[in-house]
Amino acid sequence: MAEKAPNERTTIPALRKMKRDGRRITMLTAYDASFARLLDGIADVLLVGDSLGMVIQGADDTLSVTVEEVIYHTRAVARGARQAQLVADMPFLSYQVSIEEGLKNAGRMLKEGHAQAVKLEGCHPELIERLTRVGIPVMGHLGLTPQSVHAVGGYKVQGRRRAQAEQLVEDAKTLEQAGVYSLVLEAVPLDLARQVTEALKVPTIGIGAGPYCDGQVLVIYDLLGMDDTFCPRFLKRYDSFAERVRAAASRYAEEVREGSFPTREHSFEGRSNRATARAEGQLKLYSGAKS
Ligand code: KIV
Repeated sequence: MAEKAPNERTTIPALRKMKRDGRRITMLTAYDASFARLLDGIADVLLVGDSLGMVIQGADDTLSVTVEEVIYHTRAVARGARQAQLVADMPFLSYQVSIEEGLKNAGRMLKEGHAQAVKLEGCHPELIERLTRVGIPVMGHLGLTPQSVHAVGGYKVQGRRRAQAEQLVEDAKTLEQAGVYSLVLEAVPLDLARQVTEALKVPTIGIGAGPYCDGQVLVIYDLLGMDDTFCPRFLKRYDSFAERVRAAASRYAEEVREGSFPTREHSFEGRSNRATARAEGQLKLYSGAKS
């Protein structure tokens, strides 16, 4: 974890210090307040990724995600995240068309979504300079950039060829120079990730980039095994949620069908006296009281 007082939020200087001290940064995606509450205090950084297009909306790629949707999810995550640094992903075409639009949309992520930083894919130094100048911290993202999936011909490892690898190192330096405070490296060979990590002062955060980055990010649903058909090489599943959700839902459905749920234990008596109901906690139905 970042070095900080309990309940204090992870800051950019704290992340830089983690790199200097050789302490690894943990980042996870989150898309709603419930997961944010669970993950807050565990991950240093929570990212509202445009991966939400795939894992929440069921799309084949991230391209259809809108600024409004990222703001909506970021606002929800912000309600549950008090300690983690909250980063909002800039969706496809929200920053590539013009600097002005990029500034406006990134600003909305902070003003309306309550994020502390934005992430954007690719090499856009001019925009990054402008954003950092107005106080919007930027996390970069190089290697496999899913918003370019059609341009690169699929979800493939990037930087295997020498020229591509050299370009990636150059781009990483350019982004650092432009002001990014950290850099996601996605699906690049581990030696290349190491080279970039050693070349930069700002921390690198890998996904499919091997063990030599300064930190690691995973999509929370992937880590939990929410989709048991998805297991690329870079992923380590820490649970098998798909199985457990199906098992729990099947047990529920079975009990409803056979009449063993609900029982009287899960029911309310018919007294309508408000004072009695309050005394029994029945007016606190949704506040966690079991009455
Ligand atoms: O959208 C996302 O979740 C991401 C991470 C995987 C880095 O960009």
